[in-house]
Amino acid sequence: MKGLVGKTALITGASSGIGQAIAIRLAEEGCNIVINYHSDSEGAEDTHRQAMEKACTDVENCGVKALLLKGDVSKEEDAIALVQQSIDHFGQLDILINNAGVQTDSPSEALEADSFDWVLGVNLRGAYLCARETIKHLLSSDRPGSVINISSVHEIIPRPQYLSYSISKGGMGNMTRTLALEYAAKGIRVNGIGPGATVTPINDEWTDDPAKKAEVESHIPMGRAGTSEEMAAAVAFLASDEAAYITGQTLYIDGGLTLYADFREAWSA
Ligand code: NAI
Repeated sequence: MKGLVGKTALITGASSGIGQAIAIRLAEEGCNIVINYHSDSEGAEDTHRQAMEKACTDVENCGVKALLLKGDVSKEEDAIALVQQSIDHFGQLDILINNAGVQTDSPSEALEADSFDWVLGVNLRGAYLCARETIKHLLSSDRPGSVINISSVHEIIPRPQYLSYSISKGGMGNMTRTLALEYAAKGIRVNGIGPGATVTPINDEWTDDPAKKAEVESHIPMGRAGTSEEMAAAVAFLASDEAAYITGQTLYIDGGLTLYADFREAWSA
């Protein structure tokens, strides 16, 4: 895709799932990648290995480089260090992918405040901190750039028993639109993707059980869960110059999950 070769992209939570696939895809497109991980250093090494393999199937992109950085995005000092070390290493940072995310489930009346704070801390505070630091760098170096928030269909679909997750993704949607408006004139685009049910470790409670997986997929108009690679393809598009006129949008990649599937057949006269 146009405009990605030679760019530097920081991907948070890139040791597994969607973040791993995004890192690999952006390397394949010719970006230098910063692979942030929280604790899974083996996963981060795996991302690095696969990214280099993919990048080198295209000789022009064989010079792609990767940096592995441990850090907890919910901690201000870690988020500042992640962005600063990316810039120190590569001399620039052009693309931020706010992917790190966690979830917990609980009836809302029993949701513990600490659990609530943890989910909001990683999913929303972490995304804000990384975006703030990246935007600061882009403004001070007078560079265009792109921030992409990995949100969820639960940015707009309420999810009972996942109150903190729903709030975090709803907030992320407003962060996307607010930052997009604030920095549009500076050449900084801010967009999001809203994945539907995707086969990744966050969902291992149903992905590894054929009966539960079939139940989940029965609710999806296209009849199947999505893949991390399908999410990564949309992220590569939004980060590229092919999307040069797109800002402030969340693109739902969900097999039709946000289409009100219950209306497939008429149920009113
Ligand atoms: P995952 O569990 O494989 O990925 C989440 C990543 O975030 C992990 O690598 C984890 O180590 C990292 N992480 C957790 N806490 C962190 C912290 N404090 N600092 C840095 N990294 C941290 O699951 P998945 O599915 O790949 O999730 C990626 C994103 O996609 C999340 O934001 C999630 O909410 C979102 N998403 C996933 C969907 C799905 O069905 N898999 C659907 C909608 C959105």
